[in-house]
Amino acid sequence: MVRIRPNIQRLRGYIPGRQPTGDGWIKLNTNESPAASPAAVRALAGLDADLLRRYPDPTSAPLRARLANLYGLTPEQVIVGNGADDLINILIRAICDPDDRVVTTNPAYALYPILAGIQGVAVDAVPLGPGFSLPLEELQRAGGALTFITNPNNPAGTHYPPAQIAELAAAGPNLVAVDEAYAEFAESDCLELLSEFANLCIIRTFSKAYGLAGLRVGYLLGPPDLVAALLKIKDSYNVNRVAQVAALAALDDRDWAESMWADVRARRDKLAGDLTALGLTVHASGSNFLLVDFGAASAVEVQQRLEDRRILVRHLGGSSDTENCLRITVGSADEMQKLLESLRECL
Ligand SMILES: Cc1ncc(COP(=O)(O)O)c(C=O)c1O
Repeated sequence: MVRIRPNIQRLRGYIPGRQPTGDGWIKLNTNESPAASPAAVRALAGLDADLLRRYPDPTSAPLRARLANLYGLTPEQVIVGNGADDLINILIRAICDPDDRVVTTNPAYALYPILAGIQGVAVDAVPLGPGFSLPLEELQRAGGALTFITNPNNPAGTHYPPAQIAELAAAGPNLVAVDEAYAEFAESDCLELLSEFANLCIIRTFSKAYGLAGLRVGYLLGPPDLVAALLKIKDSYNVNRVAQVAALAALDDRDWAESMWADVRARRDKLAGDLTALGLTVHASGSNFLLVDFGAASAVEVQQRLEDRRILVRHLGGSSDTENCLRITVGSADEMQKLLESLRECL
């Protein structure tokens, strides 16, 4: 047998949410958006196939410039990745020595400890406080070389105001990475902190905000010295040509995106009301999903009963506060209707 690094042998790899084949599934398990950006779809249909012979722009330069312009930054403050996951990965590789620690919260996005584990870097997951609040003092005391805050939190959905993140960054000097994969569905974001702190960066994605999860485009906004380091270690051509074209086109139609975000927020709040009326406990969410506590019923059994009706939701567990919860993505109005009908039967 070939020799595998011991920490890889021990590693339990990331288990992605199920992507079923076949028709008729209602997929509410991986926080995808109910529609893809129509401008991106049009751009793909008009793609010059001959361009596929050529490598893509190595730094996604036109997209990078466009994102910089959108956020009032310079291109040197932006790096584009093969999904936000790519950027999380290269951040850990750039920042952490083997004896450093990545600090995050429990719960948080489940990929951080796995990517840190691959690098042989230890992770300290500080439990969130009551109501999934951010334990600022404990996070500061944990002293991570790199601290990831998922904001809004996944799977809790909790949104933390920028002032709390600022408090964390102000304790510096180590890097605070704010994973804003769902920020477009929240009432505020941390963009304004970029000009205030040289030890803060923000990670975003086209997966949710523009409905382009299948294309894999994410980006990181941060100080130029950090971005320069990340550019050195990213894959040479980390974002494919097709994805770059689609992401640029999606930015051309911000009106569509903004109205999709507003629709999702409205359906999320309606769903929260409907689920509460069913007697369930719904955690406050600034995201495109809801974390729902099933109380006396078993969340795992409900998940199975929904799956029997071809509706996928996600049980994540991992902490006592989420153990009997299901994370439910906000889908289309029709999907939400079917979910509610099925839940009434399942409960
Ligand atoms: C908090 C968080 N960060 C990052 C990602 C990954 O984003 P991408 O699809 O851009 O890799 C996800 C995906 O679900 C997420 O929930």
